Amino acid sequence: MAGKIAGEVVIVTGASSGIGAATVQELAKRGARLVLAARRADELTQMVEGITGNGGEALAVPTDVSDQAQLAQLVERAQAAYGRIDALVNNAGIGSGKALAQADIATIQRTLDVNLVAPILLTRLVLPGMLERKHGRIISVASVAAHVATEPMYSATKFGVRGFTVSLNRQLRGSGVTASVVSPGYIRTPLTAGRTMRMPGPEIIARAIASLIERPRREVIAPGYYRLPIWAEEIVPWLLDRALPRNR
Ligand SMILES: NC(=O)c1ccc[n+]([C@@H]2O[C@H](COP(=O)([O-])OP(=O)(O)OC[C@H]3O[C@@H](n4cnc5c(N)ncnc54)[C@H](OP(=O)(O)O)[C@@H]3O)[C@@H](O)[C@H]2O)c1
Repeated sequence: MAGKIAGEVVIVTGASSGIGAATVQELAKRGARLVLAARRADELTQMVEGITGNGGEALAVPTDVSDQAQLAQLVERAQAAYGRIDALVNNAGIGSGKALAQADIATIQRTLDVNLVAPILLTRLVLPGMLERKHGRIISVASVAAHVATEPMYSATKFGVRGFTVSLNRQLRGSGVTASVVSPGYIRTPLTAGRTMRMPGPEIIARAIASLIERPRREVIAPGYYRLPIWAEEIVPWLLDRALPRNR
């Protein structure tokens, strides 16, 4: 598939909002056949109507990614509709704002399930078909928080998803299937609605995801200026110990 997206079958999780919705629009513009997954069925249906109204192909599969049976059903419905899956964008994710000492166990478990377990299980479900066809792209949306430790639960899941994806890419070398990470900094979406700083819109990440499907690389950090805090975490972590807000 190097160099082209037109006609490729792509599953996007977290498609109902923010980065996932922007990715769906970007890939639809480039002619992908899309499978939209998230819990909010109405949003997905509306997006599918928009795409098919413009002559594109898309399917809405309402899915709670923390439910294993629904993940299996998502893959089955994509296969039934399009016969194969060429790319998976593991994008669905939730924040975990509270200090760990105040977080309830159910929220901790949910953060792990949505942000980390779901991308691993969904990748496991689509991988055999991709390996058989020697053709596939796994793209996982991590975060700058996968490099710079910020909130314990969020960073735990994002470090995890990044480690999973980078090592999977090594395991898959030479197979025709690749795994890539996108690590966004702060992006203007409902997830960051409470923040007052200036942020780029989700289109910048959508374009990074599309470019990784066309030309796979290990990782894209976007916007690029977030390389500075990532570098600082590696070289002078004590500086970030002082600079980052405490939240006990
Ligand atoms: N925005 C940022 O600054 C930023 C920075 C770094 C990384 N990220 C990552 O980027 C990804 C997308 O975030 P966003 O900023 O676009 O946030 P968002 O606008 O809140 O979108 C999150 C998406 O995830 C879906 N989702 C949440 N729980 C789900 C579940 N149990 N099952 C299925 N779908 C679920 C939501 O859909 P439903 O509610 O319809 O289920 C929604 O489509 C996340 O992984 C996030 O961690 C974001």
